[in-house]
Amino acid sequence: MTVDVRVLEEPEQAAAELLAETAVAGAQLALSGGSTVGSAYELAARLQSRWRDVDVWFGDERSVPPDDERSNYRLVRERLIDALAVPPQVHRVRGELSAELAAGSYDAELAGVTLDLALNGIGADGHTASLFPHAPSLEETKRRAVPAEPGLEPLVPRVTMTPPVFAACKLLVYLVAGEAKADAVARALREPDPGTPASVVRGLRTVFLLDPPAASLLG
Ligand code: 6PG
Repeated sequence: MTVDVRVLEEPEQAAAELLAETAVAGAQLALSGGSTVGSAYELAARLQSRWRDVDVWFGDERSVPPDDERSNYRLVRERLIDALAVPPQVHRVRGELSAELAAGSYDAELAGVTLDLALNGIGADGHTASLFPHAPSLEETKRRAVPAEPGLEPLVPRVTMTPPVFAACKLLVYLVAGEAKADAVARALREPDPGTPASVVRGLRTVFLLDPPAASLLG
């Protein structure tokens, strides 16, 4: 298990390059939501518009219909998928169902899947995907997807992938920008602590792509 930290003026460009390189070879990818990842999706679509033999999964999803503006599926469709010449196979979480039902069916769909790359953000509270501080889901060892209660806006139930799915992932990329995340980033790089889920969630390889403000509290 290796952890790399890269501080870059444009970390979203580096994330887009990793996505595009991975997509061109055919891959299992997990994408996330939030405000930071959207520009990486747009850049990735421009770098590589043929996503043949790619399966796109969601590291987490909000329990809202797929056309709701809070939907991670909608974000990925608008910023990435609609811009591609050859679209991937998209495995969306059924946000229109209850989080329990949607998580159960996503868990079954993920059976036998090993992720090549997961792109995650980190919240100011240290959450990643929808694994929130001290959530029971941080202890999950069997299920691949579980329901989650958010600690932050939007306050709708969520579905999240669990730590073992990320642990088996070949490359977990954290893309984080802005000074508001500096403390969470510093905590994410210390010893694993359930108060900071991003310190617990690791891939086989993990890369932190940070802009200078997000890295400002690193020694
Ligand atoms: C979500 C996420 C979440 C996100 C972080 C960072 O659906 O909300 O997947 O884990 O990545 O909250 O989000 P920002 O980039 O908006 O700060």
